[in-house]
Amino acid sequence: MAIILDGKAVAAKVKGEVKERVDLLKKEGKRIPALAVILVGEDPASAVYVRNKKKDCEEVGFLSIGHTLPAQTTQEELIALIDKLNADDTVDGILCQLPVPKHIDAGAVLERIAPDKDVDCFHPVSAGKLFRGTPSLLPCTPAGVIRILDEYSIDIAGKNCVVVGRSNIVGKPAAMMLLDRNGTVTVCHSKTKDLAKVTKSADILVSAVGRADFINGDMIKEGAVVVDVGMNRNAEGKLCGDCDYASCYEKASYITPVPGGVGPMTRAMLMENTMTAYGIHEKL
Ligand code: GUN
Repeated sequence: MAIILDGKAVAAKVKGEVKERVDLLKKEGKRIPALAVILVGEDPASAVYVRNKKKDCEEVGFLSIGHTLPAQTTQEELIALIDKLNADDTVDGILCQLPVPKHIDAGAVLERIAPDKDVDCFHPVSAGKLFRGTPSLLPCTPAGVIRILDEYSIDIAGKNCVVVGRSNIVGKPAAMMLLDRNGTVTVCHSKTKDLAKVTKSADILVSAVGRADFINGDMIKEGAVVVDVGMNRNAEGKLCGDCDYASCYEKASYITPVPGGVGPMTRAMLMENTMTAYGIHEKL
């Protein structure tokens, strides 16, 4: 039976710390950190994510600047907006919600966001700094994974860390961050042979695949730490992660639930990143 890694509680703590800093800024009459969030089109899931980010900003006391653009917005128009936000000294973080409509090159858009305002950490400069081990802003989901491990005093150094999934948003940066903390890191993907053999070697397993029930209890080691980044719907339409919770819970020492695990941490780390960006801009 595992200890549940309570992402909701840790996220509340992280946001509470950010709020304390903002409260102090307000008391001192200083400029308030601001996050600009751009949504292009009407993807319903994206609309929910953007609404939640606005709610988080309000909760910690940030200024939230929403830009909702129609689906037919051109790439040039979107880039012009990013340029305007880049040049605006009162804006600390810029986030363009993905996916963008098909006629827009997401890579070109993400590369336009100034690295010092890149709170998603998707810019090649941000990714390069992470690769080099000298990041300033951190990718929110992997940062949330590390933070939750830290909160439960789960040591990473020397541990066998297995990351399942190699996306630019989660898998690859998570591997980098675990490596930076002296984990022995293996990255698995769709071509990995005998996946269960590799996942069974994990002291810390991070799954970011996006498929319900991809990992089950037979695929993990007794006492493993299971961090489930997946956010899927199962056959009954219920929200679930990549890992079969019941069978993994029995064998793991620690496990993140879905919902209430990594999801809230991602949102909280976006607030922390915006605070970090503010510190860069205000030379704190
Ligand atoms: N769409 C789904 N997840 C994310 C995220 O973390 N950042 C952005 N910008 N878009 C997303």
